[in-house]
Amino acid sequence: MMKQIVFLITLVIGFLAASQMAFAGGGATGFINAGTFALVIELGVALFVVFLAWIVKDKLKIGIPKLLQGVFIWIAAYIVFRVILQPPIPFTLLAVYMGIITIAIFLYCSIDPDSWEQFSEPIRAMLQDDTGKAKAYRYVTFTALPLLIGFGTYSKMVPKFEEPVELRTVHPAPPASINVHGEIIDLQRVLNPFRVDNEGKYLDVGKEVGDFKNNPFAEDASQYLKNVKEGGEIFFGTAGCMFCHGDNLDGKGMFAFAFNPIPANFADPGTIAQLQENFVFWRVTKGGPGVPRETFPWASAMPPWEKHLTKDEMWKVILFEYWHTEFFPRTFGS
Ligand code: HEC
Repeated sequence: MMKQIVFLITLVIGFLAASQMAFAGGGATGFINAGTFALVIELGVALFVVFLAWIVKDKLKIGIPKLLQGVFIWIAAYIVFRVILQPPIPFTLLAVYMGIITIAIFLYCSIDPDSWEQFSEPIRAMLQDDTGKAKAYRYVTFTALPLLIGFGTYSKMVPKFEEPVELRTVHPAPPASINVHGEIIDLQRVLNPFRVDNEGKYLDVGKEVGDFKNNPFAEDASQYLKNVKEGGEIFFGTAGCMFCHGDNLDGKGMFAFAFNPIPANFADPGTIAQLQENFVFWRVTKGGPGVPRETFPWASAMPPWEKHLTKDEMWKVILFEYWHTEFFPRTFGS
């Protein structure tokens, strides 16, 4: 009997865990998907637990009191859900799972009067008996219980000085196309017209690396570097991006800390190095006002540069930002 029930409970745990993993993890591991994989593993664990229970009970002839069995299973389930299961499940889900486990344990223990008697006897004894041992248990339980609940309530209520979470999308999905100075630009396709070699041919991303250390002011600078230089003049001169984004493009311009969010740090791999050049173009043209609603709350001070610069100037300043930080824009495909 006991074997079957333990099996059932572990099966329930396994099944829930597996469905949770499938739900949270998704994706495929090799030829079977993550959910199936988890289910197989959990079934294996369940069978192993039944095997252990059988060894302890029938082979070693150790009788574990019912109450203790219940507690063990409860703790084991808690450990599985809290520690073993990855990614971690939210508290509400944990509460539901543990509720199911608790009900399953009570069902198992109260399935017949004998079993219930075994299960509840220690509790009854602790509450009622007049022996010294029972009294000691009583004192411990009724001191620890209120303390525990009190501590739980206290730690819930005590004010925490944490920043409120602001969930905003820093790099929202760009629109498919934008209108800049009356021209519709297909953002999926457009390339930086100034990323070119000496023959004026498009310089594939990565090929510019040879110019990273070269001097844009040199007489024999390549066409690419000449464009970079003009971009630099816009960054430091015409537009003054450095007041916000900093002389070193590290986001530490003299006005930077007046703003929230602070200006992007281009030297950090989390900004332009992650982005496609056309995404950056979109951000430069439309600035803070141009981001979609999903970025809310987003009071970005980034100006919409289309109001002040020509398209060419904006492409050049972008070229300069990549050259100066020695990052490559992200590309897809070849
Ligand atoms: C008034 C301050 C200010 C100025 C001047 C300014 N920016 Fe910004 N910029 C910001 C702020 C603030 C952000 C971060 C919030 C955002 O992404 O909108 C930002 C973000 C950006 C981003 C997005 C980076 C990313 O990771 O998504 C780019 C690209 C950018 N700026 C380029 C420029 C260029 C080029 C210039 C000059 C032509 C410029 N900025 C001038 C304030 C400024």
